[in-house]
Amino acid sequence: MNAPTRLLAACLMTAVPFAVQAQEIDNLTAVYSEDGRYFTEDDVPTYNVAEDGTVDWLTYSGFRRYHSECHVCHGPEGEGSSYAPALKKSAIDMDYYEFRDVVTNGRTKVNAAENFVMPAFGENPNVMCYLDDIYVYLKARGADVVPRGRPGRKESKSDVIREDENACLGH
Ligand code: HEC
Repeated sequence: MNAPTRLLAACLMTAVPFAVQAQEIDNLTAVYSEDGRYFTEDDVPTYNVAEDGTVDWLTYSGFRRYHSECHVCHGPEGEGSSYAPALKKSAIDMDYYEFRDVVTNGRTKVNAAENFVMPAFGENPNVMCYLDDIYVYLKARGADVVPRGRPGRKESKSDVIREDENACLGH
């Protein structure tokens, strides 16, 4: 093999793993929907924004829930604060299950200089019953597909979402 051929062969060999990797990390694109909820190919909840800007129900609901339970520490719109990280970024970087785990069980970072506490929300139905909503909204913010502020056009809430919510809240 001469040098250019060897180089070409090396490129071809690395091209395949790159393609696989790119596919693995798409935890954003909705590939199917069920009763008003959208999911990635890995069955992880995600947002959906139509061409005219209409957002799915969870993104809209997540905007409201985030701003009642999380923004005091994490800043408006998931932008972060001097105390707590920017969740619009975390929702993209973190695995869905890891995200759920931190919110359910909390996390504390203590060292000589700082003492940061992420409370455990596992017992709080106003968070736990809307965790997917919050997660989906933050992913949409992180992917920059919804502008700041309350989403304008939204899909209506499906019967299944309403029933699941009532069951979760114990109504
Ligand atoms: C009392 C303040 C406070 C509130 C309220 C709060 N958090 Fe946090 N959160 C924190 C702090 C501080 C950290 C960083 C902890 C650390 O560094 O280990 C954190 C970390 C996180 C992380 C991990 C982020 C990362 O990139 O590692 C997630 C996810 C998270 N919070 C979600 C939420 C959600 C969702 C809500 C609302 C339901 C919420 N938090 C409400 C203080 C708070």
